[in-house]
Amino acid sequence: MSASNKLPPEVAFLLEAAGSAPSADNSQPWCFEWDGQTLTARVHRRGGFPEDYHATTLALGAATENLAWAIQSLGLDMASWFFGPPGADGAFAQGRVTKPSTIPAGNDVPLWKQRHTNRLPYRPEIDSEVADKLTTCRVGKVEVRVIAGAGIRQAADWVRQASEVRFQTREVNEWFAASLRYGDSPQDLVSGLHVDTLALPPGGVGLLKLMSDWGRLQWLNRLRAYKLFAAIEAANFRKAPLVVAIIGPADRAAAFDAGRCLQRVWLRVTELGLSAQPYYVVADLLNRLESNSVPTQCVTQSSVLQERIRAEYGHENTLHCLLRVGTPVGEIQVSGRLPLNEIMCT
Ligand SMILES: Cc1cc2nc3c(=O)[nH]c(=O)nc-3n(C[C@H](O)[C@H](O)[C@H](O)COP(=O)(O)O)c2cc1C
Repeated sequence: MSASNKLPPEVAFLLEAAGSAPSADNSQPWCFEWDGQTLTARVHRRGGFPEDYHATTLALGAATENLAWAIQSLGLDMASWFFGPPGADGAFAQGRVTKPSTIPAGNDVPLWKQRHTNRLPYRPEIDSEVADKLTTCRVGKVEVRVIAGAGIRQAADWVRQASEVRFQTREVNEWFAASLRYGDSPQDLVSGLHVDTLALPPGGVGLLKLMSDWGRLQWLNRLRAYKLFAAIEAANFRKAPLVVAIIGPADRAAAFDAGRCLQRVWLRVTELGLSAQPYYVVADLLNRLESNSVPTQCVTQSSVLQERIRAEYGHENTLHCLLRVGTPVGEIQVSGRLPLNEIMCT
């Protein structure tokens, strides 16, 4: 049985929780199976990112964290569930949905539904207790390091340098361009990255369209446009009141835990009435160095950056993601999600 309209309400509740997790470029790299007793969540490629891509594993971890929250709020037996990076069958979460389980009553919107990415600038002030509240969100060997003051300027420099490479990397640019949505058709609003969620300045949509073509971006890069784009990318980050670094071992199991940790931090941030925006560009560069997919002219600059990060966090660790945290100067359009019938495995 796969039709979503035949799902019991508690299963639909679990799917909605998992499916509302964040994912790079809103790629939503998952699908779900319900056989009447057992729910299975599997990795499922949508858009550019491969199934074993680091950012995909982070998103699966984030979906798992939401699922765990929802399982707990239904009062189900969490101990009988499997959670982990996908194996050969692609499953990253599996468990029985046993009766009786009741959907929590009340008008409170669950935290995982309130969380979203706010890309507007953040106000400079932040409560001094926030840092301590976020460092408790560790998962397994994956830790949360909170950065403030001069440390933010150093991390913003990492973001700027990694972005310079990102704007010279064809694959990243093409994946990003393919994820962009400009229209207002139902499909544009639920899949991919809608430009209305990006907090672009006037003229920003036109520039994005211009840069989306690799030939044109290469031409602009001859004028060193990548330096300007990277400085723009790092600007809001540099002014953030607080930054969070998710760090831990580089293996796939740790990447999955890093996704859970990222989402645990983000839910806590939401609970505290704050917002967050992930910056994946540095982690992406570190992974590209490992897979030899950094453009030749950027390898030296990238290796220097890698050494700086190792000096900061230790050779046994990698940086899985950065997040800026704070109170945004305004509201922003929220990304949509595929309806349940489109996230069932076929
Ligand atoms: C692994 C990962 C990497 C991300 N990287 C970035 C990023 O570099 N910049 C950014 O603005 N948003 C980033 N995001 C946020 C996603 O674009 C966002 O979660 C997605 O579009 C869905 O929107 P929502 O978070 O508002 O629900 C990232 C999210 C994840 C899970």
